[in-house]
Amino acid sequence: MVLNRSNKRRYNVQREIRFVERLGEHYSDLHSLYLELYGDRPDCYRFLEELIGTLAEAWEVRNSDLRERDARDLFERNQRDGLPWFQRRTTIGAMCYIDRFAGDLRSLEHKLDYLESVGINYLHVMPPFKCPNGRNDGGYAVSSYREIRDDLGTMDDLERLSHSMHERGMRLALDFVFNHTSDEHEWARSAKRKDPRYLNHYYIFPNRRLPDRYEATLREIFPEEKRGSFVYCSEIHGWVWSTFHRYQWDLNYGNPKVLEDMVGEMLYLANRGVDVLRLDALAFTWKELGTSCENLPKVHTLVRLFRVAIEIVAPSVEFKSEAIVHPDDVLRYIEERECRMSYNPLLMALSWEAVATRDVSLLVRSLEHRYSLPVSCAWVNYIRCHDDIGWTFSDDDAREIGVDPFAHRNFLNRFYSGVFPGTFARGVPFQLNPTTGDCRVCGTAASLSGIEQALERDDPGLLENAIRRMLLLHAFIMFARGVPVLYLGDEYGQLNDYSYTENPKTADDSRWVHRPCFETAISDDRTPSEVRKRISDGLARIIAFRKSESEFDAEDTHFHTVANPGIMVIRRHAGATSMHVVCNVTDSPMAVTLSRVVDSEECTDAELITEPGVSGAKIKCGAPLEIPALDYVLVRL
Ligand code: GLC
Ligand code: GLC
Repeated sequence: MVLNRSNKRRYNVQREIRFVERLGEHYSDLHSLYLELYGDRPDCYRFLEELIGTLAEAWEVRNSDLRERDARDLFERNQRDGLPWFQRRTTIGAMCYIDRFAGDLRSLEHKLDYLESVGINYLHVMPPFKCPNGRNDGGYAVSSYREIRDDLGTMDDLERLSHSMHERGMRLALDFVFNHTSDEHEWARSAKRKDPRYLNHYYIFPNRRLPDRYEATLREIFPEEKRGSFVYCSEIHGWVWSTFHRYQWDLNYGNPKVLEDMVGEMLYLANRGVDVLRLDALAFTWKELGTSCENLPKVHTLVRLFRVAIEIVAPSVEFKSEAIVHPDDVLRYIEERECRMSYNPLLMALSWEAVATRDVSLLVRSLEHRYSLPVSCAWVNYIRCHDDIGWTFSDDDAREIGVDPFAHRNFLNRFYSGVFPGTFARGVPFQLNPTTGDCRVCGTAASLSGIEQALERDDPGLLENAIRRMLLLHAFIMFARGVPVLYLGDEYGQLNDYSYTENPKTADDSRWVHRPCFETAISDDRTPSEVRKRISDGLARIIAFRKSESEFDAEDTHFHTVANPGIMVIRRHAGATSMHVVCNVTDSPMAVTLSRVVDSEECTDAELITEPGVSGAKIKCGAPLEIPALDYVLVRL
C-alpha cells in the first residue's frame, strides 16, 4: 500500500491504538510483577514508564509478516482443539553450531533442503553474535546482541534465514543469553571506564568482603577454569561477579536499567524473526546473600516480566527454559506465564543411566511424577546437546529404590568416561571439582553409546549392540511427547573429535570433544559407510513411526516398568487407542506377556506395528512379546 501523508497518519494511529490495547491487556501483570522486583525504589514508576517506552518502540518496528504470525498463533492458541506447533508429532528439531555445521549463515540457508529431508522443521543454532575472539564459550559470551560474528554473516543474513525457514514452515530458535555478557560488551567496557550509567549493570565490589560472604553458599560451575564466582578486574580495581568463565560477567537485574536494556535486546531479536528464545542459564539471574543464588523466587518474577514483554510485542515467540538444575526446580519454570518449552535434562541423563545399568527403575521412578506438564507446555527432549551431561536426578528418588546417590553419580562418571571395567562408553570428564568430587561427562551420542569402542576393537557383536543402543535412546525422545532435538551429525553417528586439545582456543574445555565439524563427522574414516547408513536409516524409521502414528500426538506420556527391570513401556493414550512402545535396555532379547505391558488398562487383542503407517498383525493378550536386545517394539491397543 502506498501511503500518502494523511493515510500514513491514520495507519500510525491505528498501530498506536493496537499497542495500547495489547499493553492494556497485560498491564496489570506487568505492573504487579514490576513492583515485586523494584517496588521498594522511590523512582520505580519512572523506570516502568521507560520500560513501556522500550516496548512501544519495539512494537512500532515489528514487520507485517511477523505481526501476521503473531495474530495466527494467538488465534490458534485460543482454539480448543488445535495443538500448538511444539506439541505436534510432526515437529522434529535439531541443533548445530552454524560454522561447524554449514560454514556461515548463508550456507546454512542452503542446507535447509537437507534438514527437510531428515524431517526437521525446528532448528536451534548456537549463539551467532559478536563475541571475543577465542575466549567466548562457544558464543555464550556475547559482546553485542545486535551484531553477528564477522565470519558468520550479518543480521540481514539471519533475518533472511528466518524468512526462508518460515516459508518452509520451519521455526528458528536462538539463545537469549541474559544472565551475563562478555567483558568486551559495550556495557562492560563502559563500566571499566567507570561510566556511572553502566557501573551498576554488573555486580562490582571494591574488596573481597561481600564476594567472600556470597561464595560461602555458591556452587562452582567451571572449577577447572577458576575457583569461586568472582574475578578481579584491574581496570575497575574491584571484583566482578562471574558465574561461568572469567570473561562472562553476570548482569545485575537489581538495577531496573538492566532489565530495560535487556528487554530491548530481546525484542530486537524477536523482531529479526526468531521464533523461540532459549533462556540461557536462567536459574542464575537473581542473587541474594546467604542463598545458592540459583532458582530464587525472583528469577520467576523476572522470567514472567520478560514473558509479558514478549506477549505484548511479539506473542508468537516462545521461551525455552535452559535450567539444568534439580528436576523439581526444572519444572517450576514450565508454565503458561514463564516458559512453555523446556529442556528435559532428567530424561536425557537417566536414559544414559538406564543403558549403563541395564535397569530402567530410576528412570521410570523419576519420570512417573515429573513428565506431565501444564496443557500449554512441552518438553524439549534430547539425548545430548552441545553441553556436558550432569547426573541431575533427585537424591530422594534414588534412595527410595535403594541407590546411594553419591556413589551412583561416581559410578556413572567412571562408566561414561570409559574407566569403569566393562564399560562400552568413550567419554571425557568435564569440570572435576577437587573440593566436592563432582564431575560431569562429555562425548557424542555414538561414542557414549559404544560405537567408538566397538569400531576400535573391530568387534561386530559390540558394534551391533552399540548401534541399537544409540537408536533406542533416540526412540525414547521421539516417542515421548515433546519436541525431540537431534544434534546434527549424530544422524550419521559422529564420533568424538579429540583434536580440540591441539587448539589453544578449545583445549581447556572438553565439551569441544562432542562438537565436531559436520563435514569431518560424515567423512570420518574411523566409521565405515555401512555403519553411518545403518544409523541414519534406523533414525529415519523412528521418525517415520513418529510421524505416521496418530497416538504420538497424545496429550501425555506414561512410563512404566514390567516385572523385568530391563523393560520400559512408553504409553501414549489417544482417544480410543493407545500406543505402547516396549523398550529393552539390556543386551539380551527379552520376552514379556502383553497383559503385563498394558499395565492398568484392560487387556484386549492388540496390533503389532512393524511398518510405519501400515496396520500390523493381531496378537492375543496372553501372548508373549519378544523384544530384541537394545530395541523397541510398537504395540497398538
Ligand atoms: C549454558 C550454555 C553453556 C554455557 C553456559 C554459560 O549452560 O548451554 O554452553 O557455557 O550457559 O553461558
Ligand atoms: C549450566 C549448568 C551446568 C552446565 C553449565 C554449562 O547452566 O547449570 O550444569 O554444565 O551451565 O556447561
